[in-house]
Amino acid sequence: MLIHSASQLLTLAGGPQRGQNLGKLGIIPDGAVLIRDGLVVETGPSADLLARYPEEECCNVKGQVVLPGFVDPHTHLIFMGNRSFEFEMRLEGKSYMEIMEAGGGIVNTVRMTRSASVAELKAAALPRVQGMLKHGTTSAEAKTGYGLESRSELNQLQAILELDSEGIVELAPTYLGAHAIPPEYKDDAEGYTREVVEQMLPELDAWWEQHATGRTKPFVDVFCETGAFSLEQSRRILEKAKSLSFPLKIHADEFDNLGGAALAAELGAASADHLVRTSALDISALAQSNTVAVALPPTPFGLGHSEYTPARAILEANGLLAIASDLNPGTAWCENMQFVIALSCRYLKISVAQAIVCATINSAAAIGRADRVGSLEPGKQADLLVLSVDDYRNLGYQFGGNLVQKVMKRGVWVVE
Ligand code: NIG
Ligand code: FE
Repeated sequence: MLIHSASQLLTLAGGPQRGQNLGKLGIIPDGAVLIRDGLVVETGPSADLLARYPEEECCNVKGQVVLPGFVDPHTHLIFMGNRSFEFEMRLEGKSYMEIMEAGGGIVNTVRMTRSASVAELKAAALPRVQGMLKHGTTSAEAKTGYGLESRSELNQLQAILELDSEGIVELAPTYLGAHAIPPEYKDDAEGYTREVVEQMLPELDAWWEQHATGRTKPFVDVFCETGAFSLEQSRRILEKAKSLSFPLKIHADEFDNLGGAALAAELGAASADHLVRTSALDISALAQSNTVAVALPPTPFGLGHSEYTPARAILEANGLLAIASDLNPGTAWCENMQFVIALSCRYLKISVAQAIVCATINSAAAIGRADRVGSLEPGKQADLLVLSVDDYRNLGYQFGGNLVQKVMKRGVWVVE
């Protein structure tokens, strides 16, 4: 198929973009893209491709923008229930951490999620996956983390693998057994850390061998934060995961600067995420590594906070920046990467072009898939969006709605 007459075809060609190089969209005016067998074969000016492939089935997008599907590199997709009652408590003045210390927060969702079957987990997540797709997300990372015990965490992992195989949104799994201290270990973070290191991670490894052998291993993530896991506990968990050959991620500096970002850089993690309270030292450690800094602007927005990731400082230090939704029931129930772009422009103070790179090729790098998705280049998956506008700068400028008119996944129109 030949998709042609795009006012702007954004190819995002050339790989992930660091530091001040961020923002190259690779625009082809009046552009076209040739797709065969679910892959991009060629991009170029419409006149050129139409002349060279006269027999090809055509799709005239009549002056609309075409770009790669969004890659959302941080979601807590799998959970039961919701916590709108906590939102109300926060509006009345309680902080997220106060609610967590009082036995609410993540463990409230754990209570609702633990007993769910794999089928129930999938059924609860499905409308969210469909919401993501409709808003242009064609690949996403998805975390476990609402079980905090081996059986339930593995059920969540199974739900992610099964949803992935349904092929709606392609999912990169992450095991987040170290998301919070479960009620059984209340005031004993040390005890639960030992449980994660000595029991849960080896069980994960054996489970993966049995259920997903040959597939790329899931990321292992940890919530490195006051009230969750200390820097030292996070290190033990990630080092154990690394010794079992799991790729790594970390939740760092959402509320306090504990040094998690530098730890991620040191251990060669794929990404360090949140990074609101990140120190200059941690920024420089990150920027000297290939660990992607993932900003999650829906989280401070969802919490009504005014402090966001110091994206400009990360770019000035030559860091690799990506953006994500953090879709979760506590702080940020957001299925829409267009809204993430709108927030990023305003609060991370980056341009629309930079935000688009952060939501495509750079976010693909944050989940280790920049070789397959995140740009429209020969050999890459034909995952693309047709917007209802003729200029990409309308992304972020117009917000709260949906500019995505059509979505193609692996060469097939999945939203029309
Ligand atoms: O990324 N910080 C830890 N995890 C989530 C919140 C999860 C929840 O509250 O359920 C986050 O913000
Ligand atoms: Fe998160």
